[in-house]
Amino acid sequence: MKDMRDRIIKIRSYTDSDYRDLKEMYDNFEPKGLEAGLPPPNKETRHKWIDQMLSSFFNVLVLHRDRVVGHAALDISDVHGCPEYLIFIKDGFRYCGIGTKISKIVKEMARNAGCRKVWVSVRSGNFIAIRVFKKYGFEFVGEIDIQREMELIIKKSSKKSTA
Ligand SMILES: CC(C)(COP(=O)(O)OP(=O)(O)OC[C@H]1O[C@@H](n2cnc3c(N)ncnc32)[C@H](O)[C@@H]1OP(=O)(O)O)[C@@H](O)C(=O)NCCC(=O)NCCS
Repeated sequence: MKDMRDRIIKIRSYTDSDYRDLKEMYDNFEPKGLEAGLPPPNKETRHKWIDQMLSSFFNVLVLHRDRVVGHAALDISDVHGCPEYLIFIKDGFRYCGIGTKISKIVKEMARNAGCRKVWVSVRSGNFIAIRVFKKYGFEFVGEIDIQREMELIIKKSSKKSTA
C-alpha cells in the first residue's frame, strides 16, 4: 500500500529472519506500558512477551524500506474462543492509514480462520485506537474502566451460550 504520506508500505506475514528487527522495533517503541496490551517496559519481560506472541499468535508485519515499522498479532491458538488482537505502529508511521488497513486484513484473517469473535484491550483514552477498532465493528464490552475491552463479533453463534 501507499500510506497517507505517499510512502510504500509492505504488509506481510512474519518469518524467523525478521526476529531481530521486530525486537528492535519494540525496544525503541513508545509508549510502553503495563496496561492495555502495550509492550512491557522491562526488557526481559518484553522479550518474553515477543517470544510468546511469535510462538502462539499469527503475526503480520508492516515494513518500510525493509525495516519493521509495525506489527499486528492474532491469537490463533484460540480461534474457537475469542482470540486476542494486538496492533502496534511505530511512531512516525501512525495516523497514516496503516492501522486501518491492518485491522481490515486481520478481520478477514479471523473470519477465514473460523473465529466467531476477536477482542482487544485498549486504554479508554486511546481515542485513535478506539476509532480504528470501531470502524471495523468492535464494540465495548464489560465494565467501564481506564482499561477496556472491545469485541468484534464476526459470526453470530447459532447455539445459545452456556457461559
Ligand atoms: C492505535 C494505532 C494502532 C492506530 O493505527 P494508525 O495507523 O495510527 O491509525 P490510522 O491512521 O489507520 O487511523 C487513525 C484514525 O484516527 C483518527 N485520528 C487521528 N488523530 C486523532 C485524534 N487526535 N483523535 C481522534 N482520532 C484521531 C484519524 O483521522 C483516523 O481516522 P479516520 O480514518 O476515520 O480519519 C497506532 O496509532 C498505534 O500503534 N498507536 C500506539 C500503540 C497503540 O495504542 N496500540 C493499540 C493498543 S490497543
